[in-house]
Amino acid sequence: MKTITAYEGKTCKPQRIPLSAKMAADQIQKAYDEIASQYEKKVWFDHYILGVARMKKKLLSKASGKILDVACGTGQNFPFFAPNSEITAVDLSPNMLEIVRGNANRQRLNVNLAVMDAEKLDFTDGSFDTVVSTLSTCTFPNPIKALQEMKRVCRPDGLILLLEHGHSSVPWLANYQDRHEYQHYEDNAGCRWNQDPLDLIRAAGLRVTKNKRSVLGMFHSIEATPSG
Ligand SMILES: C[S@@+](CC[C@H](N)C(=O)[O-])C[C@H]1O[C@@H](n2cnc3c(N)ncnc32)[C@H](O)[C@@H]1O
Repeated sequence: MKTITAYEGKTCKPQRIPLSAKMAADQIQKAYDEIASQYEKKVWFDHYILGVARMKKKLLSKASGKILDVACGTGQNFPFFAPNSEITAVDLSPNMLEIVRGNANRQRLNVNLAVMDAEKLDFTDGSFDTVVSTLSTCTFPNPIKALQEMKRVCRPDGLILLLEHGHSSVPWLANYQDRHEYQHYEDNAGCRWNQDPLDLIRAAGLRVTKNKRSVLGMFHSIEATPSG
């Protein structure tokens, strides 16, 4: 199978992404606006059976202070933040944020919400103690740019927590992902499930301090710092 260099001028290895054009931000926004009301049902299996909720609980317990959740979806990370955390959450899809609003009200959380592109965060440098993003770099049109933005808005000695999925470390599963990459991309709003999140994170200049792989090497619970 052919590979192409997805992000020109960057030092990351060639990414195995579909050879069709990457989905633009407005297409991704439209796709998530359309599936917003079904999103939590759609990810139920991953969340509760594959153990994503457990992984989030462990990783996100490390978040503290002023927290930014980038591409927050329907707000499924919020229950894992310490009570009384000061949470700001952004997403490209207004319909996903509408669901967040309802969830936050039910959980009596005080969350600042904004429709925003992860690749152009409207915050000043070093505004947050912890920046969190989960299951997102697979979808960002330019994940390196989004990760560089997370690095910029995080305090220089702050923490960046990422839960990502990518190319399995188990050969038969990695081959399956490669064979079905295009179909997965089409069926899941532009999700590239066989890229390597660590490679992207390093290319964005973040320093990975801890990484735990799970579920046949597909999921990564990553702790990183902005200082490269
Ligand atoms: C797979 S969902 C993950 C949502 C949530 N973080 C979670 O763990 O359930 C991907 C989310 O990324 C958002 N998204 C995609 N591209 C984005 C961008 N450029 N900026 C902000 N959000 C984006 C989508 O709207 C969607 O809510």
